[in-house]
Amino acid sequence: NLYCIIDNLFLLEGIMKFVAFNVREDERRYFEEWSKENGIEVSLKKEEITPDNVSETVGYDAVIGLQTGLYPDNLFKELSDANIKVFSVRNVGVDNINLDDAKQNGIAVTNVPAYSPSAIAEFSVTQLLQLLRNQNLFRKRMAKQDYRWAPFVGKELGKMTVGVMGTGRIGRAAIQIYKGFGAKVIAYDPFHNPELEKEGIYVEKEDLLKKADVITLHMPATDDDYHFINEKTISMMKDGAYIVNTARGALIDTSALVEALKSGKLAGAALDTYENEASIFNHDLEGQEIEDETFKELIKLDNVVVSPHIAFYTNVAVENMVKISLDSAKEVIETGTSSTLVK
Ligand code: NAD
Ligand code: COI
Repeated sequence: NLYCIIDNLFLLEGIMKFVAFNVREDERRYFEEWSKENGIEVSLKKEEITPDNVSETVGYDAVIGLQTGLYPDNLFKELSDANIKVFSVRNVGVDNINLDDAKQNGIAVTNVPAYSPSAIAEFSVTQLLQLLRNQNLFRKRMAKQDYRWAPFVGKELGKMTVGVMGTGRIGRAAIQIYKGFGAKVIAYDPFHNPELEKEGIYVEKEDLLKKADVITLHMPATDDDYHFINEKTISMMKDGAYIVNTARGALIDTSALVEALKSGKLAGAALDTYENEASIFNHDLEGQEIEDETFKELIKLDNVVVSPHIAFYTNVAVENMVKISLDSAKEVIETGTSSTLVK
């Protein structure tokens, strides 16, 4: 019987076929390595999943996705009709996935919860440092061969209180870095991490807003936290505070943020995510008019550092995102579940 089970597993592996969407050139080698190691065919498509191409999933067992914008409304119905067992995303955030719909259509969903939390944490601190040392202003001047110092005196992170919203994997990695700079760290999370609890860093949300010199967002985007940073919460913050957002654009009311940055209420913002980013970030728009007026106003500001959702983008992260998502899909097909199943 054991031989029979092993034979069946080999048979299963032999006929398993996956399809991956939105595959970039820098991911290709990791897909190919995994496919060779596991003896499973993975078809690679450059396009994101759209209502028009979702039917191309017929004939596969698993679909591997990655996109920052919305997935098609009919995604899980189509996957169910195509007999797909599992939808595995190569990223952390699942805010753009209709999990109720996946459940109703019997499709398991997996993500990659920890492909490299330090990649995102390191990047968020780096961007904050750019702001604190007025790098936008110096770059602009230097482009004109003006190498003077004054009046752009910088600020020191080690003298600041950093408020960390969300002490999950990325928030905790960021806390370690902030501590290394000598900053005082306070944090808010509805679920307390036992180690951090012992250190006494947790405060109420309102206290964090009032006391922090820097507020850094590391929580998921949920309906409850839509526009968590808004006119009201900004008015509670210290004059001259900084905001860092490498989590999700939907957490910030960008228009309110722009007003606060223009008025000087806030000293600066480092943003790796933007609420309407899907049609802008990771696209080459050279020579094209961007129609999003709020975005255009935002990127003109000298006290803002914007990056196109690249906090994750390191060699370590990319390899893990590809290989762990494929491992999860395989695990669900073989065992019915996975440690990365999104519940
Ligand atoms: P995680 O699940 O490990 O941690 C999230 C933490 O937020 C949890 O501890 C949770 O309890 C807490 N939380 C939930 N609601 C909260 C609230 N209202 N206030 C404060 N805390 C709250 O997730 P993670 O891996 O640390 O990821 C954090 C965020 O970073 C997610 O939004 C994710 O999508 C985003 N992210 C961005 C990038 C990027 O490239 N910019 C890459 C990966 C992840
Ligand atoms: C995530 O993993 O949640 C990210 O934000 C990275 C991005 C490529 C979707």
